Amino acid sequence: MNQPAHERLLVIDFGSQVTQLIARRLRELNVYCEIHPYQKVTEAFLDDFAPRAVILSGGPASVLDTDAPRPPERLFDLGVPVLGICYGQQVMMQMLGGRVERGEGTAEFGRAWVTETAHRAEALTGWFESEREQVWMSHGDHVAEIAPGFEVYGTSPNAPFAITADVARHFYAVQFHPEVHHTPNGRNLLANFVRIAGFSGDWTMAAYRDEAITRIRAQVGDAKVICGLSGGVDSSVAAVLIHEAVGDQLTCVFVDHGLLRKDEAAEVTTMFRDHYNIPLIHADEQELFLSALDGVADPEVKRKTIGGLFIDVFQKHAGEIEGARFLAQGTLYPDVIESVSFSGGPSVTIKSHHNVGGLPEKMGLELVEPLRELFKDEVRALGRELGLPDHFIGRHPFPGPGLAIRCPGEITRDKLEILRKADAVYIDQIRKHGLYDEIWQAFAAILPVRTVGVMGDGRTYDYACALRAVTSVDGMTADVYPFSHDFLTETATRIINEVKGINRVTYDVTSKPPGTIEWE
Ligand code: XMP
Repeated sequence: MNQPAHERLLVIDFGSQVTQLIARRLRELNVYCEIHPYQKVTEAFLDDFAPRAVILSGGPASVLDTDAPRPPERLFDLGVPVLGICYGQQVMMQMLGGRVERGEGTAEFGRAWVTETAHRAEALTGWFESEREQVWMSHGDHVAEIAPGFEVYGTSPNAPFAITADVARHFYAVQFHPEVHHTPNGRNLLANFVRIAGFSGDWTMAAYRDEAITRIRAQVGDAKVICGLSGGVDSSVAAVLIHEAVGDQLTCVFVDHGLLRKDEAAEVTTMFRDHYNIPLIHADEQELFLSALDGVADPEVKRKTIGGLFIDVFQKHAGEIEGARFLAQGTLYPDVIESVSFSGGPSVTIKSHHNVGGLPEKMGLELVEPLRELFKDEVRALGRELGLPDHFIGRHPFPGPGLAIRCPGEITRDKLEILRKADAVYIDQIRKHGLYDEIWQAFAAILPVRTVGVMGDGRTYDYACALRAVTSVDGMTADVYPFSHDFLTETATRIINEVKGINRVTYDVTSKPPGTIEWE
């Protein structure tokens, strides 16, 4: 394990759907933490990790089952503060001498109110902004008897032991989830916990940038590095960071597959080549991709065609860089966290994602992944630290297969051109109305149907387009963005007036699930 550069908090994951949120809330408090699955957290692991504090996550198991997941006994002898959340609370109580009962009639799901009891403790209820705090509960079993040394600090109608603690030993246990949005002031509880644990808040992007630069230099030495630039935030931040570390030892390869948004290729090449002086190969392979996609309508065939060609093209251009030993990738922490799976079954492939996995081995390259420890919002903060322009850092995600999956049915150059124009007008509208940053992702799709319209005195027979805008935290689930009626009609009018080839505009009001964000 690496020598710890920061004070570290360990989150032991028992499989809750929201464990990642614990880590995100802590990072927002400038506390460095890592999530590890309970199976991996042995006594030796604990000694090696040397956490300053530990949080036990929630999870779907019951502590009453045989073989219920547990942390090692040694955890409670480390002398560091421990916070148990939901399942984490129950497992703590059981291991420390309390009692948990099956939840028959006492299960609690959703919103609840916790009231402070007579025993006040600044650390535990100091965050209450009123006598009762809204919290989010999700438990079947419940604690029937608290462990010796614990006292009750907060109760809810169905959870008499909603907040308990053994203050002398710094053991804290809550039945609800302080990490979720539905516990509006839960962040304060976590803030109190890390303050008690003595964290100084040493996790900042300025410090991270310097450390990452040192690490990249140590890893790369004087070898050459290749970075595939997509124009997205992750690969851009990785490129600028690596360039700061090793200068012209880095060459970026930007593959233009002809499926980019309006002016995107020019924007990326100008910014990296001219503004940052990063050596950049602009691989203009539009012809190759578009002719391979000719007549292809099936979404999976499109994705596989683009993914396969991308690897070939990237390999060809990267091969021109003599003596390259490393490939940079913008892998993020959520891609690295090992998940706890109780179902064990294989999950269904909804879409084959476009990525360059497998490429490093094929090309005999080692990986440089300077963003592996960061969440998306931290990558944005690091980008700001590196001086990347705000409008670039805040850009909505754009998929690897590009406009191909926003053009259901067969792709033609004409359709792509119409789509680019419609998308640009739509995004311009969103920016003008100051809505861009409230939306996770917004784009236009061109539909494979033509419809009849009337403009002036004439009949039109043109394409219909669909507008999509969603809010999301991580792209896994999404809600439709509630534009005003005026905004939608104004945008439709602009698109129809300004984009030749479109005579009808629709707004997609499908959430995810059951829809997906992209149309294909
Ligand atoms: P879906 O359409 O699956 O998209 O709801 C979820 C998020 O992933 C993006 N997306 C991709 N990103 N390569 C990518 O890099 C892909 O092949 C790909 N397909 C979808 C999509 O834009 C959304 O943000």
